[in-house]
Amino acid sequence: MPISPRDFDFVRNLVHQRSAIVLEAGKETLVESRLSLLARREGIDSVDELFRRLHADPAAGKLHVQVVEAMTTNETLFFRDIYPFDMLRNIILPDLFKKREVEKRLTIWSAGCSGGQEPYSLAIMLKEQFPQYMNWNIRLLACDLSTEMIARAREGRFSQFEVNRGLPASLLVKYFHQKGIDWQVREDIRRMVEFSEMNLAAPWPALPYADIVFMRNVLIYFNVETKRGILAQARKTLRPDGYLFLGTAETTFNIDENFDRFQNEKAWCYRPKKTP
Ligand SMILES: C[S@@+](CC[C@H](N)C(=O)[O-])C[C@H]1O[C@@H](n2cnc3c(N)ncnc32)[C@H](O)[C@@H]1O
Repeated sequence: MPISPRDFDFVRNLVHQRSAIVLEAGKETLVESRLSLLARREGIDSVDELFRRLHADPAAGKLHVQVVEAMTTNETLFFRDIYPFDMLRNIILPDLFKKREVEKRLTIWSAGCSGGQEPYSLAIMLKEQFPQYMNWNIRLLACDLSTEMIARAREGRFSQFEVNRGLPASLLVKYFHQKGIDWQVREDIRRMVEFSEMNLAAPWPALPYADIVFMRNVLIYFNVETKRGILAQARKTLRPDGYLFLGTAETTFNIDENFDRFQNEKAWCYRPKKTP
């Protein structure tokens, strides 16, 4: 039985308040199926019982957090879309390594990193393609709203199915070791990434200035007002000559006009507009 309009509104408001994710009308079946999974996982008899518990404790406990996390979409893969990684390897990183030659410092941020495939792809690419810079102060930050995703990402353990998605076999055998039926990222790669929980839609904590921000396939879940607020904060975090990557279905156009699009062949990203 589909969830009632009252329960749907309850989830919709909770999720919007906590994550800014917009659950459009028509997503009732999605909500129902994700909550069924959550109920089963938590040993709760039914979705009705889950709602009874949520309504009984409107002030929010662990279950409320779990409901919000259950509504996030964590789809990701290694070297997703590949072209942005080619652009980084061939154009952007060589440029930045030259520009930062004196300070020998580089900060890259994966915002909305899900299970860690994106920041680990960046770490592996740096190690593989730019070994001569490994003595620099290179910081790879990665954040996500979901506590569960951050815990999984920190562990760096992936199923066979997950490593089959986007990761060349040569990099799998070089940078992962087998753990039971799964694969775990090598310790030195794991240590390159600093994971933290963070809500992009809330005021951001003080962050180090970033040379590159990957914020891909996150903005699509927000309304325009939230996207504008997040892009404004991203601009403040980016160095003036930095680079912002969004997902292929995302853009700054008509949302924040203080970015210029920077395109090369099949990849593009955004750069803060130069102030006159
Ligand atoms: C579809 S995944 C994208 C993962 C990766 N960036 C990629 O492109 O493959 C979106 C991620 O954004 C996270 N997310 C959603 N709302 C968020 C918020 N308000 N703050 C931080 N992360 C959020 C979700 O938990 C999810 O892991």
